Amino acid sequence: MKITCVVDNAVCDHSTFWGEHGLAFLIETESGSILFDTGRSGTVLRHNLELLSIEPVAINALALSHAHYDHSGGLPALLDWGSVRDLRPTGDLRPTGDLRPTEIPLHAHPDLFRERFSRREGSLKSVGLSLEREALEQRLELRLSAAPMEILPGVWTTGEITGRTEPEGRSAHHLIRGPEGWEPDPYRDDMALVLETDEGLVVLCGCCHAGLLNTLAHVRRTFGPRITAVAGGTHLLQADEAHLRRVIEVLRELGVPRLYPNHCTGLRAYVTLAQAFGEKVSPCPAGTRLNFSGAE
Ligand SMILES: [Fe+2]
Ligand SMILES: [Fe+2]
Repeated sequence: MKITCVVDNAVCDHSTFWGEHGLAFLIETESGSILFDTGRSGTVLRHNLELLSIEPVAINALALSHAHYDHSGGLPALLDWGSVRDLRPTGDLRPTGDLRPTEIPLHAHPDLFRERFSRREGSLKSVGLSLEREALEQRLELRLSAAPMEILPGVWTTGEITGRTEPEGRSAHHLIRGPEGWEPDPYRDDMALVLETDEGLVVLCGCCHAGLLNTLAHVRRTFGPRITAVAGGTHLLQADEAHLRRVIEVLRELGVPRLYPNHCTGLRAYVTLAQAFGEKVSPCPAGTRLNFSGAE
């Protein structure tokens, strides 16, 4: 099973990948390929996929970690890139021209289409999905569930992160419209992916608004205890000392999975993790390829 970081805030040294505030991973298994998140602009996603020699035809399924623009913003460009008709579902060997666009599945939480806002210096900005549900339904097969979904053999969504007893990855300026007015975004839509490999579970995080420790606890309850690696955005950017100490304590209890933090992890959290766990921690900029044995 191969994981490639396609979009991140940073890029591999001396490479010609482009970076932006956003995230996308490509997961390749014997059964097919999944694009998890799409970055922010579409421009960077396309450039980096081309650099990796990945054609849209090679992508069998899509998944979104949550609605935020830095994870979903590349979706319109992806759909328009050579037409979504070029995307093909797993195992379908018909000529691409025979396919209906709706045959490509997009996996996400049902709360994906809720309006989301960021309030900075008094002004509100929409930060959710830029496409209407109806527009997406015409182009993709929407698979929306708060329960875990198997996207391809051995690759699952976590479903909604339940039992959030540990600190969450919250931002005070993220709001939704509630019945009584503005409310903090509960990030119900926030999910990660779980990859079942011979080495154990690999957890791919989007932004971890539900909290890294809550996400890992949910994964262990739902999929089993053996987490061998964690990659992606961990949203420890605003974590204080106590929060970081707790993260280190729990990761130690888990036997210290290999860690590939990127995107919204923040330099301070990254350095703290690297100081605690040494070679178990590696950067994961755009262009990083990770290999795990076992496709199913
Ligand atoms: Fe986010
Ligand atoms: Fe993000």
